[in-house]
Amino acid sequence: MRKNHHVIHLLICSIVLAPVLYYSVFQQIKANRTAIRSFLSILLYKQGSAIEKNVTQDTKNLTFLNNTSIQKESIEFNPFPDGSFSISINFTKPDPTIYNSLPICNFSTSNKNLSFYKIPVIYRLYPFSTIERHHSADLHFGGHWFRKTCQAKQRLAMIVPYRNRESHLKLFLDAMHPFLRKQQLDYTIFVINQHGHEPFNRGSLFNVGYIEAMKFYSFDCFIFHDVDLFPEDLRNIYKCGDRPRHLAVAMDKNQYRLFHSMYFGGATAFCIPDLLDCNGHPTIYWGWGGEDNDMIYRVVKKLNKTIVRYPDEIARYKMVRTFNHTAAKPNPDRWKILASNYNYSLDGLNTMNYTLHNILFYKLFTLINVTLPQEPREQILKRLNIKIR
Ligand SMILES: *[C@@H]1O[C@H](CO)[C@@H](O)[C@H](O)[C@H]1NC(C)=O
Ligand SMILES: *[C@@H]1O[C@H](CO)[C@@H](O)[C@H](O)[C@H]1NC(C)=O
Ligand SMILES: *[C@@H]1O[C@H](CO)[C@@H](O)[C@H](O)[C@H]1NC(C)=O
Ligand SMILES: *[C@@H]1O[C@H](CO)[C@@H](O)[C@H](O)[C@H]1NC(C)=O
Ligand SMILES: *[C@@H]1O[C@H](CO)[C@@H](O)[C@H](O)[C@H]1NC(C)=O
Ligand SMILES: *[C@@H]1O[C@H](CO)[C@@H](O)[C@H](O)[C@H]1NC(C)=O
Ligand SMILES: *[C@@H]1O[C@H](CO)[C@@H](O)[C@H](O)[C@H]1NC(C)=O
Ligand SMILES: *[C@@H]1O[C@H](CO)[C@@H](O)[C@H](O)[C@H]1NC(C)=O
Ligand SMILES: *[C@@H]1O[C@H](CO)[C@@H](O)[C@H](O)[C@H]1NC(C)=O
Ligand SMILES: *[C@@H]1O[C@H](CO)[C@@H](O)[C@H](O)[C@H]1NC(C)=O
Ligand SMILES: *[C@@H]1O[C@H](CO)[C@@H](O)[C@H](O)[C@H]1NC(C)=O
Ligand SMILES: *[C@@H]1O[C@H](CO)[C@@H](O)[C@H](O)[C@H]1NC(C)=O
Repeated sequence: MRKNHHVIHLLICSIVLAPVLYYSVFQQIKANRTAIRSFLSILLYKQGSAIEKNVTQDTKNLTFLNNTSIQKESIEFNPFPDGSFSISINFTKPDPTIYNSLPICNFSTSNKNLSFYKIPVIYRLYPFSTIERHHSADLHFGGHWFRKTCQAKQRLAMIVPYRNRESHLKLFLDAMHPFLRKQQLDYTIFVINQHGHEPFNRGSLFNVGYIEAMKFYSFDCFIFHDVDLFPEDLRNIYKCGDRPRHLAVAMDKNQYRLFHSMYFGGATAFCIPDLLDCNGHPTIYWGWGGEDNDMIYRVVKKLNKTIVRYPDEIARYKMVRTFNHTAAKPNPDRWKILASNYNYSLDGLNTMNYTLHNILFYKLFTLINVTLPQEPREQILKRLNIKIR
């Protein structure tokens, strides 16, 4: 039985894509409008203004570029005016007969010269328009890219939860596009913005990312990724396997060692059957912490699987802590909720509540902007039958 399960998951996760080669979803946010607009560069951060008082080592390598011009465009819902965007996109692949005849993409990790795989983290902050130029080749609006000369085995959606961290986002996009391309992936980057004053809810933003992304393209693989994490080794391939994978194993902030064996934060990869069997991520952790621990409980207890991790020397990350970002308040209930062993079928993808404000297809990423109404603590505890003394 188990074996069959694995075979089925493997099939779904990696091979079964061939029949769905030609896949096109046309999304119209505003009826009959397909305008593509670009704007002159705006540099939002002046030298020094965005740097913490407590200057970290990172800041020394950061270059802030000067303003070139400011253009006030009255598109109220466009939060990144120096990025070009489209209000509609199109995930059209090459003609199926052509695509079918292409060889399978074969990024190899067998090079003995390991410096080939090392990726320096570059702390240079550019405006979106410049970052777009860096990565414009074959890039489709929405932050979608695939290699035209080979078939990728999976369609990857990268889900990045976000609130007011534009500098991180710029560095992230500038690093992530070349990283994923070198691995020859078919990928799309989704940035899920939590609007409003409710506490940050990382788990719910991941669920929004899944639900909304699946409306555009038949993704096979989801990578849930923090915006401040930068992979340092190309052998850390961003694909999904038959078990969930913890990507952010060895981070510089912890001397490149795993925090503890149950740590499942930073970046993770799930194929769709696994994600659905977990009922997605929890929605009940408002503020910092808890949702990543909850997720590994879901994998172990609900999905009945173990996770995989690549070795420390491959799953290496730098965490950028440069900007004066204030972390969300820790959720004081998180340990008690975790320990309660509540029924994971009662919370997750199937209980998502959110207001979708808008979706913008920037050149470098798709922005999904939502408000998450905060479920009162008492209701959470009651709904999930959690007793906290
Ligand atoms: C840094 O903090 C100041 C004051 O709190 C704020 O005005 C500014 O926008 C922040 N910068 C960034 C990059 O978050
Ligand atoms: C500066 O950062 C270091 C390391 O994160 C910390 O130990 C120290 O207390 C900080 N200093 C101030 C003044 O915040
Ligand atoms: C900053 O750059 C220098 C030289 O380019 C390098 O030696 C150093 O490791 C970098 N620092 C960080 C934190 O990346
Ligand atoms: C930014 O402007 C300052 C003063 O105008 C100039 O000295 C500096 O070279 C400029 N930096 C860049 C990266 O253009
Ligand atoms: C950047 O733009 C602001 C707002 O227009 C302006 O006040 C400032 O002088 C500019 N800085 C540079 C270095 O050009
Ligand atoms: C989608 O893109 C393809 C190829 O770029 C183009 O031929 C097609 O007309 C586009 N479809 C729509 C609805 O924009
Ligand atoms: C597969 O790898 C071989 C050898 O590294 C290379 O010559 C070939 O072009 C690759 N094929 C694709 C589709 O990338
Ligand atoms: C190893 O790879 C690096 C980066 O691609 C290259 O600069 C270096 O020359 C290579 N070393 C050898 C011995 O091939
Ligand atoms: C969990 O998986 C193990 C082996 O993978 C299997 O022996 C066991 O029966 C499974 N438990 C449940 C409840 O499905
Ligand atoms: C968990 O909730 C689901 C959905 O209501 C239910 O079918 C299942 O029996 C519950 N599991 C346990 C162990 O109570
Ligand atoms: C979702 O919204 C509905 C209607 O407002 C409400 O009844 C329900 O309790 C909410 N569920 C959660 C999990 O917040
Ligand atoms: C999100 O939507 C709200 C409400 O329409 C808007 O005020 C805000 O600027 C949007 N934020 C982003 C990042 O798109």
